[in-house]
Amino acid sequence: MHLTLRQLKVFEAVARHLSFRRAAEELHLSQPAVSMQIKQLEANVELPLFDHVGKKVFLTEAGHEMFHYSRAIADLLNETDEVIEQLKGGRRGKLTLSVASTVNYFAPALLSTFCQRFPDINISLDVTNRETLLRQLADNEADLVIMGQPPAGEDLEAGAFMENPLVIIAPPDHPLAGERRVPLQRLEDETFLVRERGSGTRGATERFFSQHGITLNAGMEVSSNEAIKQSVQAGLGLGLLSRDTLEMELALNRLVVLDVEGFPIVRHWYVMHRRAKRLSPVAQAFKRFLLEEANTLLHPELPAGGVSAVAEE
Ligand code: PGA
Repeated sequence: MHLTLRQLKVFEAVARHLSFRRAAEELHLSQPAVSMQIKQLEANVELPLFDHVGKKVFLTEAGHEMFHYSRAIADLLNETDEVIEQLKGGRRGKLTLSVASTVNYFAPALLSTFCQRFPDINISLDVTNRETLLRQLADNEADLVIMGQPPAGEDLEAGAFMENPLVIIAPPDHPLAGERRVPLQRLEDETFLVRERGSGTRGATERFFSQHGITLNAGMEVSSNEAIKQSVQAGLGLGLLSRDTLEMELALNRLVVLDVEGFPIVRHWYVMHRRAKRLSPVAQAFKRFLLEEANTLLHPELPAGGVSAVAEE
């Protein structure tokens, strides 16, 4: 059986109105054009679809069946139209995000606001360290990546949307806890718990100390921010972490931020993707949301406005 969507559409209108004239009016066609479409459809299915008794039109048994299916097809076509429109407007679709471990501390709050606005989107969130993110960017695995300073020389589009201050943390009873403007050299006497190799925080820490000619006395290597905080609380050494990870411990006075010369190290959070990537409407909407709103949403105390980032590495 060979039939066209146009024939089905004309048939559906005639069957619904049981009138060629009213169907023609609805579809803005002439009555002979409607009759022609129905004739071709009947020829295609090789059965009559309408009975003409006097001036009245009735559906034949085949006509009833055809009406049932043509309505279902029309409904599906409308639904397809709607879904495509929603995809175009970014109101539906899938968003694949990969974020640095540290971003985990604020990404859920942002996603929650975004999802309230776009309840029909489906999000997958991968939390991993900088090294893995760089590989994912190279392999084009995620729609958007959120991490610290973008690598130099890569073909990336990156926008800074929020500051990422790195601070030195200690247990509240540490001898340096109450001191002001602790000289950097003084830190050479301390042991630091450091994040794993491949972590952006670790890279920034090493760069900072080497730029200032300070030898970092690295103690235990710890592969998560949470474990660093616990270890610092337990007195295993000092830590250097993003202030974004510390809200709860500072509020509960389980940890303190030391006042050290040159600190905080001000880094930035970037949203990035490969330059050539064709972002879906949902990904475009999320990127815009980060660049325009994330900073104010997470830091309502700061004056509204963009973040201007300087190259760090
Ligand atoms: P990290 O990344 O959580 O791997 O340390 C932070 C960053 O990219 O700066």
